[in-house]
This record gives sequence, structure tokens and C-alpha cells, in this order.
Amino acid sequence: MGPATPFLLVLSLAMLAPVLSTSKCVLTGRWVNDLGSNMTIMAVNEKGEFLGSYHTAVTATGNDIKVSPLQGSQHRTNKNSQATFGFTVNWSFSDSITVFTGQCFVDEEGKEVLKTMWLLRAEVDSIKDDWKATMVGTNVFVRLRSKKE
Ligand code: BTN
Repeated sequence: MGPATPFLLVLSLAMLAPVLSTSKCVLTGRWVNDLGSNMTIMAVNEKGEFLGSYHTAVTATGNDIKVSPLQGSQHRTNKNSQATFGFTVNWSFSDSITVFTGQCFVDEEGKEVLKTMWLLRAEVDSIKDDWKATMVGTNVFVRLRSKKE
């Protein structure tokens, strides 16, 4: 063992630590966002595709809110433990569509968090109203824990 060995050992451990400490963020499960909306993401298949359901807490319409289907896609997961993803919600109680794009992170406390940005396209009566048809915003989702936990 040369004089540099302990130094090299410490250096290699320091380099490995961030890699080992990043645990994987998994999209599957139940989530709640900062507006109080809930969503459930079913299994992510081998192509990264997934289906789910979305129960929004708010609406831009006067319609009664109903649970709506979502479909999405996650980027390759073998490469990155904090994958990017996107999904579309086709609202079952309005003529609008929302697309979300985001990334699944594991925060400093080891808690999974989905940081997203969305575009909501509303249907308007004529092309003259196109300018006011799109809303934009952000949502942060955390895992919805069951009351037993
Ligand atoms: C509509 O009002 O036409 C459909 C419901 C839209 C709900 C929006 S989507 C973006 C934002 N995030 C939510 O959880 N709900 C609102």
C-alpha cells in the first residue's frame, strides 16, 4: 500500500456517494398536487408508456368535475433515476385538454416529487378567440399516503 492509497480510497468513495444516494423516482402510484388534485398512474410499461386517472380539484368551467383519463410517456428509465415524462388529460366533463410535462425527483429528504408544467387548451367558438384559448401553469405533486400510513 503506497502513501497515496488512503487518499485514493476516500476520493473514490466521495465520487461514488452521489450516485449511490440517488434513489429511483417511480411514477406509478397515487399523487396529490398543490391545488389538491389527485391522480393515479398505473404501471409504466417497457416502452415507458402509462395510463391513469386524474381527479382535478378545480375547473375553469361551471361543469361538475368528473374523474378523467390520462395517458403518458416516461423517458428511458434505465439511464436516469429521475426521469422526465409527459402526459395528457382528456377531460371527460369539458371540451378542454391539458398536457403536463415534468420530471420525477427524489428530494433531499428522500421524498419523491413531480415538478410539472402544464398547458390547458380550451375550446373556443371561433378562430377570433384563439388568443384566449390556452392557459399555462405549474403543479408540484407528492405521493398521496393512505390514512393507515
Ligand atoms: C377544465 O376546467 O376544462 C378541465 C379541468 C382543468 C384543471 C386544470 S389542469 C391544470 C391545473 N392542475 C390541476 O390539477 N387542475 C387544473
